[in-house]
Amino acid sequence: MNDWTTSHDRVLAQRNAEGWMFLIEAARDLRTTGAIAPSGKALARALTDPVRAQAPRPLAVLEAGAGTGTVTRTLIPELPRASRLDIVEANPRFASRLRHLVTTHPHLAPAQVNVNQTYVEQLDTDQRYDVIVSGLPLTNFTPVQVERIMARYMELLHPGGTLTYFAYLGTRKARALTASRAEARRHAAVDEIMATYQRTYATGRWTVWANVPPAYVWHLQRPLVSAEHPEPQSVEARR
Ligand SMILES: C[S@@+](CC[C@H](N)C(=O)[O-])C[C@H]1O[C@@H](n2cnc3c(N)ncnc32)[C@H](O)[C@@H]1O
Repeated sequence: MNDWTTSHDRVLAQRNAEGWMFLIEAARDLRTTGAIAPSGKALARALTDPVRAQAPRPLAVLEAGAGTGTVTRTLIPELPRASRLDIVEANPRFASRLRHLVTTHPHLAPAQVNVNQTYVEQLDTDQRYDVIVSGLPLTNFTPVQVERIMARYMELLHPGGTLTYFAYLGTRKARALTASRAEARRHAAVDEIMATYQRTYATGRWTVWANVPPAYVWHLQRPLVSAEHPEPQSVEARR
């Protein structure tokens, strides 16, 4: 067996193990896990575009909801020298896997990276970020949670910083067909909050067809001059 075959086999074995781990966590808690498989390479690349766009200056990057680390692995080699990476992951088993990933990764010095096992809306930090990469399944959450998370993201960004996140295509229609009325109403209210943020802050949207399921990737930018958060009072009304 040559070196290429063994390293290729190792990558395949790792992907397989990650696929199983993701599936097990989805079976435990589908709402928080948000998917039954990790994102594919094309989606990871689109999500990390703002890091490439802002390189080569050193960046402060936050990845929220990193799961088994598919996007993290795409992100790390793109980080300019002297950058900082903070990872926030709510699931303790994913967080422990991510700790192993970052401490053994040849591109990272230990001082550059930090894995926090917590909910991103509860992240206690004064750090501000140039880029936030979010893997959170926002369409599974309540409108109040989504408003809290989006407001926290905007607060955590430096003025001019970029939030990048994804949403699967067609989830609202699928829910309208299969879910209760209350669930369809919750999803519609979340979509409305996201649409308000998109109208106010979006700099671009891309469709990634080469993912299962296909997804939209959104880039939102915190304005250089601080603005009010969109319709902060409206969430209670939508609950
Ligand atoms: C759809 S998965 C995405 C995983 C990975 N980024 C990917 O693209 O394959 C969502 C991840 O967000 C985590 N998560 C959900 N809610 C969270 C929260 N409020 N704060 C931090 N992580 C959260 C879940 O545990 C899960 O790992």
